[in-house]
Amino acid sequence: MQVVKSAAQLPKAAAYHEVLQQLAALFAGERNALANAANMSALLYEALPNLNWAGFYLLQEGELVLGPFQGKVACVRIALGRGVCGTAAERRETVIVPDVNAFPGHIACDAASRSEIVVPLVNDGRLLGVLDIDSPQLARFDQEDGTGLNAAVALLVRSSDWGRLLG
Ligand code: SME
Repeated sequence: MQVVKSAAQLPKAAAYHEVLQQLAALFAGERNALANAANMSALLYEALPNLNWAGFYLLQEGELVLGPFQGKVACVRIALGRGVCGTAAERRETVIVPDVNAFPGHIACDAASRSEIVVPLVNDGRLLGVLDIDSPQLARFDQEDGTGLNAAVALLVRSSDWGRLLG
């Protein structure tokens, strides 16, 4: 499938609109959560500018375990409450970190990362995991990214079956 790279040149709101349309097309007729999360990480990594990592940590037996992603190899297990991912998961809130060096407890997987956004995946009150996106650019993510990525995550959550994936 052709990913519209021009999303990178669009204003943010329009870029996320494109991304959401492409995700909806990708998820149409497919409810496998692992496949959908894998395609979503690839699409976000290609469509959004200035990223060095985009992917998922999924809740397995009470901790976050590395899931589908694009970017350099990353730490595999993150406890709830640890790092940006564990903080967003525990609070069940989006966390935007403009400068990772100023976030106490930030877990450095790729030394190139300067800013980060983490969006929790929650279905009917049940925590499924998080979407984590890193950038080599300071303050790369703002509220518009938060809104766009929350919409993307909501689409993934309702378009996929999670029961067999999560332990
Ligand atoms: N920085 C994250 C860890 C995951 S990597 O960025 C891929 C954190 O502090 O939770």
